[in-house]
Amino acid sequence: MEPHKKFFKPLQLGSLTLPSNILCAPLAGCSDFPFRKMTAPFRPALIYCEMVKIDALIRHDPHTYRLLDYETDMHPIGAQLCGSKAHMAAPAARIIEDLGFDVVDFNCGCPVDKVTKDGSGSGMLKHPELIGEMIANMVAAVKIPVTVKIRTGWDERSINAPEITAIAEKAGAKAICIHGRTREQGYSGSANWDHIRACKQVAKEMHVIGNGDVFNAESALKMFETTQCDAILLSRGTMGQPWIIEDIYRALSGLPALVRTQEDYHRAFIEHFRHVSDYQSERRALLDLRRISCWYFKKEHGAKNMRETFQRFQSLKEVQEWIPTLQV
Ligand SMILES: Cc1cc2nc3c(=O)[nH]c(=O)nc-3n(C[C@H](O)[C@H](O)[C@H](O)COP(=O)(O)O)c2cc1C
Repeated sequence: MEPHKKFFKPLQLGSLTLPSNILCAPLAGCSDFPFRKMTAPFRPALIYCEMVKIDALIRHDPHTYRLLDYETDMHPIGAQLCGSKAHMAAPAARIIEDLGFDVVDFNCGCPVDKVTKDGSGSGMLKHPELIGEMIANMVAAVKIPVTVKIRTGWDERSINAPEITAIAEKAGAKAICIHGRTREQGYSGSANWDHIRACKQVAKEMHVIGNGDVFNAESALKMFETTQCDAILLSRGTMGQPWIIEDIYRALSGLPALVRTQEDYHRAFIEHFRHVSDYQSERRALLDLRRISCWYFKKEHGAKNMRETFQRFQSLKEVQEWIPTLQV
């Protein structure tokens, strides 16, 4: 067997068998219903919805429930919970299970001040025992597998991902995803995969999912080789190139790479535009299009002009009229 083929395998999370070990991340403000319509056809092992706040879920906030919209074709699908109140962990996980999700994940990585100020997201990294308590409460409440996503630590001086790995496994998590950056780093600098490898050495049966800076098939192979992780979570690498999942599958299977042309990017943009305009209000769709157009056109000559064009559109009809100018 070629060396990279050994990395490519199904992922067992309790009684759930995921078809592969390449997952698509929760991305707040990005991995919405239209985004998942784009990635699902490439058959990732699992697609996560954007994170939702536990408090909002429990008070049945309609906006929060909308973030969890999905359709049958998107299975296996995961929801991610963000919060810090241990007594709310079980009822929130039960809601996720009742909504038909296959996996519930606990967010211990969000770096945003608004989220960490009440101890949620990466604020949880300062309280490893509370992470264990939240996970244990979820595990006791649901049959679906519980996973957790963390960063390496709050800052360079307080790296504690291996400690949290041990706590999460003891609490019953079936997998832990480690984003190889500290909270202090935000999304800058590079992910330190050595910490992911250290977590892999600590975990006994629980799976370790590597995350951070996997933007193509080559870096996916390198992530497996460097960390010996069981699976990979793709994040920014999925933006504007939903086929990255297929690219990685091919590389891990020893198949030649497919060349992605400018026309492929244009066609994908048009498809994404259709999903956005079918799903969102006109006002919201126009805002979303500014964001997604940057992804699909960023490699092109004249990307700046393109950005300005999208700022000027006042209606979806104008976008529709402009689309035939794209080369497909
Ligand atoms: C716009 C954006 C939104 C994100 N939203 C979430 C989220 O809702 N939950 C989460 O656990 N991580 C979230 N992340 C973090 C990513 O899932 C991932 O851990 C991080 O981007 C590192 O991976 P990458 O270097 O491959 O992008 C977000 C990242 C970005 C850029």
